Amino acid sequence: MKHIRYNNIEVVYKEKLHGGGIRFGQQFIPIVKERFGHVGHIFEFCAGPGFIGFSLLANNLCDKLTVADINPEAVKVLSETVKKNGLESKVAVYLSDCLDSIPETEKWDLVVSNPPHVFCANEDEHKKNIILFDPNFNIHKRFYRDIKKFLKPTGSVLLQEHTESTNIDDFKSMIEENGLKIVDVFTYTSPVKVIGPKNTLGFNFPTLRKIFNPFKVYRAAKRRLWPNKPRNYYFIHAKIA
Ligand SMILES: C[S@@+](CC[C@H](N)C(=O)[O-])C[C@H]1O[C@@H](n2cnc3c(N)ncnc32)[C@H](O)[C@@H]1O
Repeated sequence: MKHIRYNNIEVVYKEKLHGGGIRFGQQFIPIVKERFGHVGHIFEFCAGPGFIGFSLLANNLCDKLTVADINPEAVKVLSETVKKNGLESKVAVYLSDCLDSIPETEKWDLVVSNPPHVFCANEDEHKKNIILFDPNFNIHKRFYRDIKKFLKPTGSVLLQEHTESTNIDDFKSMIEENGLKIVDVFTYTSPVKVIGPKNTLGFNFPTLRKIFNPFKVYRAAKRRLWPNKPRNYYFIHAKIA
């Protein structure tokens, strides 16, 4: 069992349950801060160990949190995190295939998720990797079909998707045919921290040392050379129409 701390919350997880929430999923924090600020109740759909939801709660971006996943192992670590941090009065955990087992008394201000983002044509492929694959987009279809009844009237949905796997046209009709409207579709680039004066490349040496791993250097160079090139992840913000 592994742990990661977000302020006063220690999140319990297993490496095999990790679907990116520790890394790119952390982009939700500045985005939620900027676009929504503190809200009452957040739901993390397809939560895995709940890195996104618990880190939003730990950053005081909500009072209450609901997390759900289809995988009993994920639900077990979610419940352990709740117990370990004494969050029973603030956090509800559900084992649920999409939204099927969520009681309709749950009403949310904001729904966040990095759901399985790669299309696959059949259920067998999905079963091989339930973190990655969405068979025939059924997870997305069922989510957008059912989400409206759980949203407060001013509530929002904010899903993180992968630029190289999908684009907004894959989801547009699912959103609009279910009484929702698209508010925004955007990418987010984490700001590069700059310490002290920059050299001619636009970097300073402490920063360069900090990021000197080939992957990070490549990413930073790409950002400088092609500032408008699509990032790996994009966000879809939708609301009740
Ligand atoms: C990309 S991972 C994200 C997990 C977590 N947010 C993270 O970043 O580590 C997708 C998650 O969706 C869950 N999942 C797959 N199919 C699902 C379904 N039909 N209903 C609910 N959750 C599902 C998987 O178990 C997995 O935890």
